Amino acid sequence: MNSGANSLYPLLRPDTVAVIGAAREPHKIGHQVVRNLIEGGFPKERIFPINPYAEHILGLKCYPSILDVPTKVDLSVIVVPARIVPKVLEECGKKGVKAVAIISSGFKEVGNVELEEKIVRIAKKYNMRLLGPNIVGVCDTIKSVNASFCQSLPLRGNIAFITQSGALGIALVGWTKMHNIGLSDLVSLGNMADVDQSDLIEFFGDDPETKVITLYIEGVKDGRKFFETCKRVTVKKPILAIKAGKAERTVRAIKSHTGSLAGSDSAYNAVFKQSGVIRVPTFPDLFDWAVALSISPKPLNNNIVILTNGGGAGVMATDAAEEYGISLLEMPKDLADRIRKYMPPFGSVLNPIDLTGMAGREWYRESLKELLRDSRVGGVIVLYCHTAITTPREIADAIIEAVRTVGYCKPVVVSLIGGEEVIDECERLISNKIPCYDSPEKAMAAMGAIIKYYSDREKILSRKYPRLNVDYEKAKGIIEKALKRGHKILSPREAAEIVEAYGIPVVSKKLAKSKEEAIRFAEEIGYPLVMEVDSPHILHKTDVGGIIVGVNSREEVGKAYDDIIRNVSEKAPEAHINGIIVRKMAEKGREVILGMHRDPIFGPVIMFGSGGILVELLKDVSFRVVPLSVEDAHEIIEETKAYKMLKGYRGEKEADIDCVIDAVLRLLKVVEDFSEIEDVDINPFFVYDKGKGGIAVDVKIILS
Ligand code: COA
Repeated sequence: MNSGANSLYPLLRPDTVAVIGAAREPHKIGHQVVRNLIEGGFPKERIFPINPYAEHILGLKCYPSILDVPTKVDLSVIVVPARIVPKVLEECGKKGVKAVAIISSGFKEVGNVELEEKIVRIAKKYNMRLLGPNIVGVCDTIKSVNASFCQSLPLRGNIAFITQSGALGIALVGWTKMHNIGLSDLVSLGNMADVDQSDLIEFFGDDPETKVITLYIEGVKDGRKFFETCKRVTVKKPILAIKAGKAERTVRAIKSHTGSLAGSDSAYNAVFKQSGVIRVPTFPDLFDWAVALSISPKPLNNNIVILTNGGGAGVMATDAAEEYGISLLEMPKDLADRIRKYMPPFGSVLNPIDLTGMAGREWYRESLKELLRDSRVGGVIVLYCHTAITTPREIADAIIEAVRTVGYCKPVVVSLIGGEEVIDECERLISNKIPCYDSPEKAMAAMGAIIKYYSDREKILSRKYPRLNVDYEKAKGIIEKALKRGHKILSPREAAEIVEAYGIPVVSKKLAKSKEEAIRFAEEIGYPLVMEVDSPHILHKTDVGGIIVGVNSREEVGKAYDDIIRNVSEKAPEAHINGIIVRKMAEKGREVILGMHRDPIFGPVIMFGSGGILVELLKDVSFRVVPLSVEDAHEIIEETKAYKMLKGYRGEKEADIDCVIDAVLRLLKVVEDFSEIEDVDINPFFVYDKGKGGIAVDVKIILS
């Protein structure tokens, strides 16, 4: 199958469309698709209804088969019962149709996997792209193609909407119309037998008619493809996504801390962050932010100024700024002095700038001009509470005039607060490319999305990937040996040796096969010591009395040896014991956890967070998918509360954060090099004061 983005052109921008299953009765879907094409404004002479039992439908000539159509067909919309789909698809292939959109249900979604595989084989054989099956169809407002059973075409615009829920897609046509939001396309994905989100993102990424891509996702099939595609496209245009289904996976035997915390939603979150996709909580936000991003220029910097005629609105916007992490400019004196001219003496030139309820058209216009001209201002939020002093129209005029005079050099996001009178003015501002909302919070949220998009974009463009020296052969040898023995869980010593080979400092361990040997090692290493069982069958040693800390003398070594053997034999009689590990008790540092879990969709996911025995309870962890850049390694740490602890909480000295970053990157290299590794836990990893490094105390590795 030709899978390039260009191969979707006949699907999304077709010149000719056939409807196979163009039913005669008006209530049938096949009939409605033909009606929609006509009513949507697609040229009638380029619509070809196919139905062996009908002569004409809705005034158009009907063909018994696609093979009878006299001209080439770009897109066939298939609306016949599932069992007939392979036959008509075969005919499409013979006709040379480039793309098919299969509305019919009755495939994989109801367990009919074989039938779905069959249609994919046919499409592949003829090099046709296949959208669906089980979709509402596809709407393209650019060429006026309503090849769907949506009630009508959306308004024309430049936001592409890709949805995994057909019904939601249909509903949103009405919703976007009610809110005067235009779309370039609305594509329903259905079962994604061939065309998936990534293919569409790639297409819209290059589509000159689309400025912003919006998604409703329930799940992706190929996580790596999605990640790579999003990374490529977000540097060209924004992608906003609603990801449904936040509930974490529940049914699975989970052996590592990382595995138990790394649910699929964490992986999606990481992918969104690393690829610059903005995750959006609700549908109104999705389109509010998409509109703002589709019309606003880039912020000059991240410092925003709020201009208002009402103190309350200003406070609400300030609170929202904090919530979205937006910094408000500390007003420079010279700028404040210039703006003071446009307000009464009791106005405020602090940020928010309060022009007071006396503010009219001129004060708004002139103060906004000052803010637009000043390069220290990254963007402006203009708030207006409707008063008897002015009309919303005058204020909208003032904003438009200021932007026209100075130039649209930074985002200006407006909120007009009032009754019906503000609605038209809000729309007029939007049609002048100035985003406008009915509340200060929405305006600030939209500004937040603009700032986030451009700063994430910059980060993606400047990412650096680490180069590290590691002992690959040594680690490989240990893994191969374990696999030969059929061991999935590496012994603590083997696990420690692997990460050590990759440059992560580890507490050194000696394996004693007898009590005498344990005493000899103890004397060599020095006290105090930790002694622990070495067994490929025991992952959580504390649970079986397999670890004793604070061993201080020859006598205690002997006793600990016997106690561990006895405890383990009683509590885990089936476990094979390799021996007892004797190790120096590491000086206590600040405890963090580093881990990796292989996600079924996205592959290796790296975790960092607060470590120790309370990992699951605290859930202070953050995730990134592989590959991580150096910047990602910084961010994964900075997102956690553990970071605050490492920075020096309550007068404590700063810890050696660089050594944690280095360990994260080295762990990344381990999992990149060995696809056999399923899970890793390094917990606790003790971090010492700045300049003093850190050390992995306990390492667990599970092979797949
Ligand atoms: N080529 C073209 N048309 C053919 C045909 C062929 N080989 N064989 C039969 N047809 C015609 C039928 O005669 C009929 O037209 P008519 O009513 O004028 O006789 C038309 O195709 C439709 O077939 P019909 O058997 O009446 O099916 P239907 O309209 O009741 O249902 C689907 C067809 C596809 C709509 C239905 O099977 C289905 O899958 N519905 C669910 C769709 C859906 O919800 N999708 C997912 C949304 S999220």
